[in-house]
Amino acid sequence: MNSSIDNAGNDPGNDPGSSGQAFKASMRAQWDSAAEGWNGHAAALRTWLGKPTEAMCAMAGVRAGARVLDVAAGAGDQTLTVAQAVGAQGHVLATDLSPVIVALARGNAARAGFAHVETRVADGEDLGVPEASFDAAVCRLGLMFFPDPLQGLREMHRALRPGGGVCTMVFSRPVKNPCLTILMSTALKHAGLPARDPFVAGGLLSLGRPGHIDSLFRSAGFQDVATTAIDAPFRLPSVDHYIDFVRGSASPILHILGQLDSAAADAAWREMRERLMTFTTHDGWAGPNELLLTAGRRSKEAT
Ligand SMILES: C[S@@+](CC[C@H](N)C(=O)[O-])C[C@H]1O[C@@H](n2cnc3c(N)ncnc32)[C@H](O)[C@@H]1O
Repeated sequence: MNSSIDNAGNDPGNDPGSSGQAFKASMRAQWDSAAEGWNGHAAALRTWLGKPTEAMCAMAGVRAGARVLDVAAGAGDQTLTVAQAVGAQGHVLATDLSPVIVALARGNAARAGFAHVETRVADGEDLGVPEASFDAAVCRLGLMFFPDPLQGLREMHRALRPGGGVCTMVFSRPVKNPCLTILMSTALKHAGLPARDPFVAGGLLSLGRPGHIDSLFRSAGFQDVATTAIDAPFRLPSVDHYIDFVRGSASPILHILGQLDSAAADAAWREMRERLMTFTTHDGWAGPNELLLTAGRRSKEAT
């Protein structure tokens, strides 16, 4: 077992260039295999993230007729919200690293009747879109998985017209997202891997250190940068529904446990369930989460 495994599950090696590519190849494979599960939990995700998603769209300046870039769009749940807001006169480009999840996003947009949604497989750090071609950009729960999030933000900045707005959503500090901490620490322990620094680039909580994402936004060239923390408990009927969600779609945890035989993995899931029971309420289960919505704007003067 590789004890130098990084947050996406591959050995970083000595060459940052090639390790970034290896990291992304591993990330793509993980999300290709978790894609169906993530898409299958769309209803739960919508209940959990619906209000924060509306806030994200408003903070990015998504409005009727706008051209909007959706980065790390996954199966396109927030893409549908954006498509509804911009209307048929607008345009949405939903991009993601995983071809399997992009195909699901394309199907979801088509089923919703949104002909103004386009989908494309693209690394968020190298989008390949023309300079200054969008009015707004959003990125929901994706940027923290980038090995170089500053480069991802530079790409969004480049894609925006002067004066265009961006808003990203990421998890905040570990203490405010205890379920993720429990899942990760239990998975690592059972896999015989050392505890990880949660703030290492590419991990679930990597952009949660206070002030960090704001400084990345400024380094990428954005103006009027502001972060709002939002309390977003994940409410489900029981802890078993949460375990079911994680088992079906939480690719970083699945990747770590994928190295174990089924008896050892079952033991890990049992311990996670036991520890997560603590969030059982009188009428169900509520896992605390805090999200950071960070907004910025490209300067009105072309740079
Ligand atoms: C937690 S999912 C979020 C999906 C969607 N935005 C949502 O909120 O439902 C994370 C997504 O980030 C994508 N991703 C990870 N690294 C990426 C990268 N470097 N470029 C583009 N997408 C990436 C994954 O493929 C996955 O679809």
